[in-house]
Amino acid sequence: MTEIVRVETDQPYDVILGSGARDRVASVVPVDCERVLIIHTAVLADRAHDVRELLASAGKTVVLAEVPDAEAAKTAEVAAFCWQVLGRSEFSRSDVVVGIGGGAVTDLAGFVAASWLRGVRVIHVPTTLQAMVDAAVGGKSGINTAEGKNLVGAFHEPLAVVCDLDYLLTQGRNDLVAGLAEVVKAGFIRDTSILDDVEANLARLTASGNAGPVSEEDFGLLGSLAVKAIRVKADVVSADMREASLREVLNYGHTLGHAIEHVERYQWRHGAAVSVGMVFAAELSRLVGMLGDDEVDRHRAILGGLGLPLTYAGGRWDALLAAMRRDKKARSSMLRFVVLRDIGVPTRLEGPDPAVLAAAYAAITER
Ligand SMILES: NC(=O)c1ccc[n+]([C@@H]2O[C@H](COP(=O)([O-])OP(=O)(O)OC[C@H]3O[C@@H](n4cnc5c(N)ncnc54)[C@H](O)[C@@H]3O)[C@@H](O)[C@H]2O)c1
Ligand SMILES: [Zn+2]
Repeated sequence: MTEIVRVETDQPYDVILGSGARDRVASVVPVDCERVLIIHTAVLADRAHDVRELLASAGKTVVLAEVPDAEAAKTAEVAAFCWQVLGRSEFSRSDVVVGIGGGAVTDLAGFVAASWLRGVRVIHVPTTLQAMVDAAVGGKSGINTAEGKNLVGAFHEPLAVVCDLDYLLTQGRNDLVAGLAEVVKAGFIRDTSILDDVEANLARLTASGNAGPVSEEDFGLLGSLAVKAIRVKADVVSADMREASLREVLNYGHTLGHAIEHVERYQWRHGAAVSVGMVFAAELSRLVGMLGDDEVDRHRAILGGLGLPLTYAGGRWDALLAAMRRDKKARSSMLRFVVLRDIGVPTRLEGPDPAVLAAAYAAITER
């Protein structure tokens, strides 16, 4: 199975997804490109070498840049190392950067490509579910600074995104489940059939408990869930590339989620924090009279069923509020939340009553 989702931005591009899709990388590198820089981490060195072979067979000169793992890749120093490699290999404007890895690597590769010679083309080859359904699609790239995450970056749409499901075979279960939180988010904000699929297959999705990697039998299901989630992101970013009102719906569960990540000093997985954030947003939706009990319960049943957290420690509301106020996504001083009018129908809630926010927090507090 190979699925293609077209992202209709100013320069439209395809997200290609399937088992063995990595073979497509060579075909999406344009003929006028002579050199390719592959950015990858040590964990994925073998896969980077495979792709290098494919590109070399297609006549490209390939340079590899191995970068540190996870967030350690998203620094100015690592970007500067990549620029150095580009400079030394005389990379020109027609050449291409390929990022093979999780969202950290695709974010870095996108930023390096956006900044080199004021923008060279980039192809993302995401290797985690999170990166396939979220980070690699949508054109946002960035690195962190000591002051915070993703503070430096650029909008830079890829030439293509190639998602090889085989890569998920080695992904840890907890990372996979964290990626499923973003898939479920896509269900809550738009394509409710995702929720039906997850509900019907909860046992399979959690079959290996929280330890082992994904099994080959899960491929069909994961692939179809990933494609649906990618379609949701593609639809939303197609209509509105920048951080304007429509794109904001992708932040469902993220206002509190980001605050939890901050308060936990980024020791929580993003998807886990967003899971709690979605339960909070659902409670908020109920408190302002938009969702009923059943819809809120559905959040808990699906996210909890996948093994994602639903609650957060009590007594930390002040810290969370302070973190939410600092979040760069909060316009002016007014807090904004994406809430649901109904399952699949997001809307925005601006400057909610502090007592309502506190009540929503109480509803997700560990008892
Ligand atoms: N640009 C965007 O729009 C956007 C959206 C969401 C998230 N992000 C960014 O994405 C990053 C998170 O992405 P992530 O969850 O993929 O984390 P990650 O990139 O840190 O990867 C998680 C871990 O999995 C390992 N890994 C990756 N692929 C693997 C594989 N196939 N097999 C085994 N191990 C593998 C990595 O080496 C890493 O240790 C964050 O930096 C976040 O800011 C960006
Ligand atoms: Zn997210």
